[in-house]
Amino acid sequence: MGVAIEYLHKAFDLVDGEPKFVLEDVNLQVQDGEFICILGKSGCGKSTLLNLLAGYLKPDKGRIVVNGQEIDGPSAEWGVVFQQHALFPWYTVRENIEFGLRLQKRKDAGETATKLIEMIGLQDYENAYPAELSGGMAQRVGIARALAPDPAVLLMDEPLGALDALTREAMRQELTRIWQLSGKTIFFITHSVPEAVYLANRVVILKDGQVEADVPINLSRPRNMRDRAFLEYVDDFARMIAETEDEERAVCAE
Ligand SMILES: Nc1ncnc2c1ncn2[C@@H]1O[C@H](COP(=O)(O)OP(=O)(O)OP(=O)(O)O)[C@@H](O)[C@H]1O
Ligand SMILES: [Mg+2]
Repeated sequence: MGVAIEYLHKAFDLVDGEPKFVLEDVNLQVQDGEFICILGKSGCGKSTLLNLLAGYLKPDKGRIVVNGQEIDGPSAEWGVVFQQHALFPWYTVRENIEFGLRLQKRKDAGETATKLIEMIGLQDYENAYPAELSGGMAQRVGIARALAPDPAVLLMDEPLGALDALTREAMRQELTRIWQLSGKTIFFITHSVPEAVYLANRVVILKDGQVEADVPINLSRPRNMRDRAFLEYVDDFARMIAETEDEERAVCAE
């Protein structure tokens, strides 16, 4: 069970008639319930990997198997992509969360939505529209909506990128709690090395189309970003990702 990424290749362009691979022989075995953070420089193929996992793109070679089934297109059963600003503005918080369940004609749509609304602490806002929510609240609704159809895997592409520092910090705690409560497998992309070390039980670094490093984070939770052990992970990862000292400083920033 879990997710197996095997011999994955993806190219968008040809150079001199040969495919120019963005991802070239990516291999990864992920157990159910893992929280995987994917790090890597801009353009290294993080979103491409997520889109392949979501079934929005097809690999050129290799395959992705989720709970024994090979991915051959988008499916609520094996993955949901959560991106910011993906809420329907004309639906309330509750309607947004129920949306996928109603599509599946699930009888428990209302009940499931109520539980999720409680989990994200927005009981007082269930009838509000997205425009009436703060950025952090909207993100929580997005996460709840992604969780509603009970997907095996949650896919997140820089979901906290646009938030201010305080909201971002609160959302990291929230996300850790949601992960602990739901037991989902999560793939989470971020530019921030400290964010990855804070959230992940395993950090995967992509470089030159391959998995450059695959490192378990052995820190207890809640994690303290100022701990020496925490900062050692951050420094190590920054060195692996960056090629210059300026880049290193940039990836260490929150
Ligand atoms: N649909 C596409 N068509 C052509 N090229 C693409 C397409 N999608 C991605 N690419 C190229 O593939 C490479 C990897 O892109 P990708 O979006 O996966 O990077 P990323 O790691 O997510 O970057 P960022 O951190 O900036 O979001 C880039 O060179 C990009 O230009
Ligand atoms: Mg990207």
